[in-house]
Amino acid sequence: MEPFALPESFLLGTATASLQIEGGDRNNSWYRWVQTGHVKDGTSCIIADDHWNRVTEDIALMKQLRQQTYRMSLEWSRIEPARGQFDKDAIGHYRLEIQQLVNAGIRPLVTLHHFSNPLWLEDAGAWVNPAVVDLFERYTAYVVENLGDLVSDWCTINEPNVYLAKGYVTGGWPPSDISITKYFRGARNMITAHIKSYRKIHQVRASNGYNDTMVGVANHLRLFDPKQGNGRERWAAGMYERLFQELFVTGMCEGRLLSPLGGGYPLGEGRYFDFLGINYYTRDIVDCSGKSANPLGRLEVHEDSQKNDLGWELYPEGLYRVCKKYWDRYHTPIFITENGTADAKDAFRTRYIYDHLLQVSRLIEDGVDVQRYYHWSLMDNFEWIEGLSAKFGIVAVDYATLERTVRTSGWFYADIAKHRGVTEKMIQQYLA
Ligand code: BGC
Repeated sequence: MEPFALPESFLLGTATASLQIEGGDRNNSWYRWVQTGHVKDGTSCIIADDHWNRVTEDIALMKQLRQQTYRMSLEWSRIEPARGQFDKDAIGHYRLEIQQLVNAGIRPLVTLHHFSNPLWLEDAGAWVNPAVVDLFERYTAYVVENLGDLVSDWCTINEPNVYLAKGYVTGGWPPSDISITKYFRGARNMITAHIKSYRKIHQVRASNGYNDTMVGVANHLRLFDPKQGNGRERWAAGMYERLFQELFVTGMCEGRLLSPLGGGYPLGEGRYFDFLGINYYTRDIVDCSGKSANPLGRLEVHEDSQKNDLGWELYPEGLYRVCKKYWDRYHTPIFITENGTADAKDAFRTRYIYDHLLQVSRLIEDGVDVQRYYHWSLMDNFEWIEGLSAKFGIVAVDYATLERTVRTSGWFYADIAKHRGVTEKMIQQYLA
C-alpha cells in the first residue's frame, strides 16, 4: 500500500438523502410504501436517524470529521405538501440547516429530488405524467428563490435511472408498476425536467446577482462487463449501458434524446451540466451462456470477487474506468457524488475508502479533473427496500437510542480530509 496526496483544492465530504435520515414525514411515496409492508427487514423510515430534530448535533459531527462539503437533499413533500401550496416552515428549516453548514465552513451541495415524491405527485402518475416537468420547475424556482443566496451548488435529480428502473422495470420500489413504456416516458420527462430546472437555477441565481452557480445530476453509473467476452455478450452489455445509462447521460448533459426516447434536441442542443456527478458503487457481469428467455442474458456478480454485506462486488478500478470514460467524452469537472459500501462490522470500509480514493488520485495524475468526493454515507440510514439493516455509515447509528458513534473508517476518512491524502503513518495506523 502506498501513500497518496490529493490536490489542495480537492473537497472531501459525505452524502445523505432527506428521506433516508430525517424521519417524521408521512406525506411521501416511500412512507406509504413502507406502510404497505414492502421493506425486507420490516423497518420504517418514519424515524430513521431523526435528523430533522438533530441537525445541530449532526453538523457538529461533520465538523469533528473535518468534512469540507456535504451533499444533502430536500424533501419535496415537506416543501410543497399540497400541489401549489408551499410551506414556509419547511423551507425555513432547511434554510437554518444550510446556514449552520455554511457557518461551520462546510460547503453545501443540495439535491432537489432523491427518489421520494410528495403523495399528491405520486397519485398523479409521478414522473410518468408529463405535468411533472412544469411542477418540478416551479418547485425548483421556489427553492432557489429561498435558498439561492446560501447555495451555489445544486443537483437537480439523483439517479433518475435507478428511480425508474426499480419503479417500472424490476419493480420492488414504488410504484412498482412494471412497464417498459413507462420507463421510457419517465426518462423523457426526467430529462426535460432536468434541463428546465438547470436553466431555472441559473436564471434565478443570476437575477439575484450570483454568477458562481454549478448544477448537475447525480448519475448512477456502473460497468457492464461481458463474462466470456463473446460478440453476443458484448452486444448485450452495450444494450444495458445504453438503456440504463446512456439515455440519461446524453439526454441530461446534451439535451439529445437517443432512440428509443425519440430523437433530436427537443429543448435545444446544449451543455446542461456544470459538473458531471457520478455515483459509483459496483459493476455487473453480463452472462449470455445457456438458455435464457432474455436476449440480454443475465446480470451477475463477479464470481471470485470480494463482496459487501449486500453481495455487491468491491471493484475500485471501476471508479477509474467510469470517470475516465466520461472525462474523455465531456472534459467537464467530475464530482463523485456518491461512493460507499454496506459493511455493518466496519471490516472493509477503511480499505474500501483507501482503494477508491487511490483511484481518484490516479485519475487526477492522468489529467482527469475530479474535484470532489462524497462518501455515501455520513451515517447509517434507511436504505430503501433493505430498511435500516444495511449499514453504509462512517458513523454508526443505534436505532434504539439514536446515538451516533464514529466508526474507525470514519476517523480514517477524517484524517484523509485533514491531510488531503493518505500518509505512511495513516497506512500503519489504519491499514497495516
Ligand atoms: C442512492 C442512495 C443509496 C445508495 C446505496 C444510491 O443508489 O442514491 O440513496 O442509499 O445508493 O444503495
